[in-house]
Amino acid sequence: MSKTFTLDGQPIPFSTGQTIIDAALDAGVYIPHLCHHPDYTPHGSCKLCSVIVNGRVCSACTFPAAEGQEVLSHTDELNEDRRRITQMLFVEGNHLCPGCEKSGDCKLQAVGYYLGMHDNHFVHFFSPRKLDASHPDVLLDLNRCIFCTLCVRASREKDGKDVFAISGRGINKHLIANSASGLLKDTDLEASDRAAHICPTGAILIKRTGYTTPIGARDYDHQTIAEVSLERERETHDG
Ligand code: SF4
Ligand code: FES
Repeated sequence: MSKTFTLDGQPIPFSTGQTIIDAALDAGVYIPHLCHHPDYTPHGSCKLCSVIVNGRVCSACTFPAAEGQEVLSHTDELNEDRRRITQMLFVEGNHLCPGCEKSGDCKLQAVGYYLGMHDNHFVHFFSPRKLDASHPDVLLDLNRCIFCTLCVRASREKDGKDVFAISGRGINKHLIANSASGLLKDTDLEASDRAAHICPTGAILIKRTGYTTPIGARDYDHQTIAEVSLERERETHDG
């Protein structure tokens, strides 16, 4: 007999070692997340996946499922916290959706819609962020980076390289390209690398492909992030 825990009252089967978020995903239940991807080592940094496990707040992407656990996810309070976290991400970076190539395919924008975020709530930081257009095929726009580290993990775990890293702390935290010049063109990143395609926002873009899929025909123009996540991350583990 398979082991189960309950998620908002629904029994969720899981296998030994599986995290709450991956067991939920396999069972067809979406828990909002940004830094998590089932193909990569969990990082637990964005806190969007926070759930209450037996009365304690935990990150569903790092917390292992266990028999008999009672997990709450879609409560008004947790969704309000997730909305505030998303609003903080918007004001911390410079996310100007109407002028962004990634609009309609961006997970940050899509999770904002999913959570009913109608404004930024907080005062905008207008942090000065760099743009690196040095690479012939890949653009790095740090204005849109949310420090999810997916590019760091994808480069290391999938591409067998070490193209990206996070440097600095707090408001000075930033993504760096690992080359002597600090420029992307001097790394061994190739446009076919998984790291060049994993960014949930428009911070890493493949040049000359921005409007191949027109606005109006993009993933989140037709489906919610919950629907896309369950389709892609559950079936292919490569969305
Ligand atoms: S560039 Fe994209 S994938 Fe890399 S840390 Fe920033 S948001 Fe995440
Ligand atoms: S998805 Fe779990 S902390 Fe980011």
